[in-house]
Amino acid sequence: MRKTINSFQLILMFAVLAIASVPFTVWAGDPKAGESKAALCLTCHGKGNTVQGVGTPIISGQYEDYLIQAMKSYQSGTRNNPIMTGFSISLSDKDIEDLAAFYADMDSQLFTPTE
Ligand code: HEC
Repeated sequence: MRKTINSFQLILMFAVLAIASVPFTVWAGDPKAGESKAALCLTCHGKGNTVQGVGTPIISGQYEDYLIQAMKSYQSGTRNNPIMTGFSISLSDKDIEDLAAFYADMDSQLFTPTE
């Protein structure tokens, strides 16, 4: 018996091809390396759900790409904050990726400290 491809199978094939071709980003950050670089960060941002104060955002459990974007924005001046510009200016791209991986890896709920 000769097999033919019906239109459903054809659509399925295109769908699989389309999904397979979607580019996705793999962050290269290493959470272990990030932990060893985070001593200073931890004094202000804490770990997990520890609240350090109204003005200091909780970053544990935040999306990795958000953290990378935020730190690079402080470096470039797109975000202007004297404290974070100072702490991010000397970080390499690898440092940023490692730190982001470390914080993103934490099981923590994000919320806005109110006191
Ligand atoms: C002296 C305290 C202090 C230290 C140390 C510090 N930060 Fe911050 N960080 C802040 C404050 C305050 C803000 C909020 C700044 C603003 O309003 O833009 C902030 C903001 C951030 C943000 C943006 C958060 C968001 O939700 O948008 C990230 C990411 C961040 N810090 C990462 C780090 C990392 C990584 C380190 C260590 C290299 C670090 N910080 C060290 C005080 C600190």
